[in-house]
Order: sequence, then C-alpha cells, then structure tokens
Amino acid sequence: MPITVLLGAQWGDEGKGRITDALAESADIVARFNGGDNAGHTITINGAVFKLHLLPSGVFRPGCLNIIGNGVVINPVNFLKECDALAAGGFPITPDNLQISEAAHVILPGHVALDAARESTHGGLGTTRRGIGFAYSDKAARIGLRAGLMRRPDQFAQAVRAHTQRVNQILARDYGCPSLDADALAEQYAHAAQRIAPYVTNTARTLHRALAEGKRILAEGAQAALLDIDHGTYPFVTSSNATVGGVLTGLGVPAQAIDRVVGTAKAFCTRVGDGPFVTELDGELALRLRGSGANPWDEYGATTGRPRRVGWFDAVALRYAAQINGFTELALTKLDILTGLDQVLICIAYDHHGERLTDFPQDSAVLAECRPIYEALPGWSEDVRQARCFDALPAAARAYIARIEALANVPVTMVSVGPERDQLIRR
Ligand code: IMP
Repeated sequence: MPITVLLGAQWGDEGKGRITDALAESADIVARFNGGDNAGHTITINGAVFKLHLLPSGVFRPGCLNIIGNGVVINPVNFLKECDALAAGGFPITPDNLQISEAAHVILPGHVALDAARESTHGGLGTTRRGIGFAYSDKAARIGLRAGLMRRPDQFAQAVRAHTQRVNQILARDYGCPSLDADALAEQYAHAAQRIAPYVTNTARTLHRALAEGKRILAEGAQAALLDIDHGTYPFVTSSNATVGGVLTGLGVPAQAIDRVVGTAKAFCTRVGDGPFVTELDGELALRLRGSGANPWDEYGATTGRPRRVGWFDAVALRYAAQINGFTELALTKLDILTGLDQVLICIAYDHHGERLTDFPQDSAVLAECRPIYEALPGWSEDVRQARCFDALPAAARAYIARIEALANVPVTMVSVGPERDQLIRR
C-alpha cells in the first residue's frame, strides 16, 4: 500500500524537514495534512538553507507533486511569499507541482491580529502568532473561508471584508486593539486570490486517483504528537491533529492505504512555547544543547526565532507518541549534537508525588508536577558527523540508540548525524 506517513514524535522541530526530504526521494506525491505556516521545516541542500513553513518538502524534488490538503490552514500572503522565495532559490512553484485543497481553510489578518492580541494577555500560550488557533476556531464554528472561494475573487474580497469587520469588533471589545482596514485587506486578498486560484482543486480526488494508480504518497506532518489538539499537552498545543488520525481527515484518504508510519524524534528533547516539559534543562548543559544561534541547526525556532527550551530524551513521552501513532519505525535526528558529553540521560519514568508513572499523563496539571527518573548511559567523544553506516557509529552511540528502541518498542531505521542530505544513516 502506498502511503508513508511522517510525523513528529515530540514537541515539533525534530528535523522532520530533512527526513521528509529524504523520503520524498522515492515519493510521487508529498502531501501536508495539518497546521499552517506555524511549521518551520529547515532543509539544507549543498550548503544552502531553505526554510519551509507551508509548502510540502517535495518542492525540492523534480517531478514530485505537492499537495496542501483540506486539513491545512493557509495564509495566502505568506504562501505567495514562500513561493517567490523558493522560485528565487531555483525551485519554481507552479500548478504542475503544487495543488491546494479547495476545502482547506484560509488564515486572514483578523486571525493573526486576534492571536497576537490574545498572546499579549495573561491567557497567552506562547503561540507562533500566525493566527492558527483562530482560523481553526472559525472552521469548527462553520464561519471560516475555504480556499475554494479564492476562485471567485469578488466574493472572496467580500468575505474578507465581512470577516475583518467582525474581527474588528472583537479586537476593540475584548482587547482594546485598533481596527484593521477592511477595505484595503479585501483588495489585497482579492489580488492574492487571483494568483492562488490556479492551484486550488479537489485534492482528495487527486489522491484517490494516485492511490488507484499505485503511486507512492508521503503524508508530511507538521508539529508533533505532544502538540496535537487532542493527544498533546492541552491547552499548550496547536489547533490541529498532528497525529496519524490527522492524515485521514486532513487529506481524505482511507486508513488501509497507510502502510508505514515514521516517527521523527530528536536525540534529545526541545519545546518552544509554554507548557509542561519534564526533562527540561537549564544552565550550562542547556546552553550547550541549544547552541548559540550561530549555526542554522542551533535550537532557535524556524518560524519565530525564539530560543527553544531543551532537555534530555524523554522515553515516556516517546512511548506515548508511538502508541497513539502506531509508529512502524523511528528516525532519530541530531545525534551529532550529543557528541562530547560524559554521559547521556534518558527519562524512563516520571515521579509524581512519590508515585512512579510509566504512562504519559494526559492531564497537563499532573504532567507539570512530574519529575524525571533517569537512566544514565556513557557518552561518546568520537565525531559522528562522517559516519555513513550504523556500524561506523561509536559503540556508546549505538547503545544509546538501542536503548531508545527498546524503550519505545520501535526500530530506529534512520539516524541523522548532520544537516546535509548525505548525513543520514539508513539501516
Ligand atoms: P500555534 O500553532 O501557533 O497556535 O502555537 C501553539 C503551540 O504550538 C506553541 O507552543 C507553539 O510554539 C507550538 N508550535 C506550533 N508550530 C510549531 C512547530 O512547527 N514546531 C514547534 N512548535 C510549534
């Protein structure tokens, strides 16, 4: 069966971009099924660094069709900016290599303004301020705008105006914020709609035909299990399903078509935004894992530039992600960053007021009270960045990976040891 799913197994930023890029090599179609331009996938090609927010990672593979599915929310202006930047970098986007679902919802400036306004209050969650939650709220409330409307720019402009006027009332009433210019935005978005309309189509139909023809489809997840609206650390989550169920609803494909579910986990943990993080580190070690920001791979948000919170590997959380998603394999990224540590710690259970928990608590208040119970493994000092096969890794690194496999009960089939395309070990 032809659908491979690629998902984040932690709190996002696991390096999904580089794994999708590798898997896209053998895919006819790469399809995004959730989230919006809150995502930030970094891909390095011959030293050039590209940051994708909304576009699927198959845009770098000639002949690959990319799909933005109905489960995605699209900011039209940011979408066009991303297309223009890629075209300037030698990767043109056309309706031949990209389709947008007519049922995908549109993010408007009103959504972004509401997100920013709420973030500046005490109720903020540390969002990316891209309007994600407010666009999905409108979708669920059945007052959202779908991408299909962009094929009728006049009606789209009218809807943008009406939406902005409605949001202006909320901005003034709830946050004391100034109004957005509804007429100017209607005009700006009508122009954007004209450029985007040729990409908009029935992508579920495209996918069904591709399945019938036996084409290989890669479903590319944004965000990750612990940011999933249902299974993550609510309310410190994003507003879509970043777990495997999101593939079915966000693309309109049948469950039986999925035969491979790859979870991507970083060799340690990171998180941006607020919310509980049991293995979080501070001090010297945190600075060491985060990096200074001088390198593109240092731990600073690809979308917001915020320093990421960092911590030891959390096997309790990974096991939970594996259970929800049914990972058939794991890709472990950034192993090279752990080189040079005397010992590496893995969290194998939580201590909650004296009780040992081995299941990840769904209640964020409980999770916030948990303390990590660690197992220490020897570190390694050998440079792993040149390793191209598993056996070339130091014995201590192999033991670390083996322990993660055993704790998650999922085989690690890919290990990345650096950002370049060839710094990926496949087993
Ligand atoms: P939102 O998706 O912008 O509403 O943000 C909700 C939470 O998800 C915040 O904690 C964000 O930092 C986090 N988040 C959203 N997208 C990503 C991502 O691609 N990587 C990591 N964290 C993310």
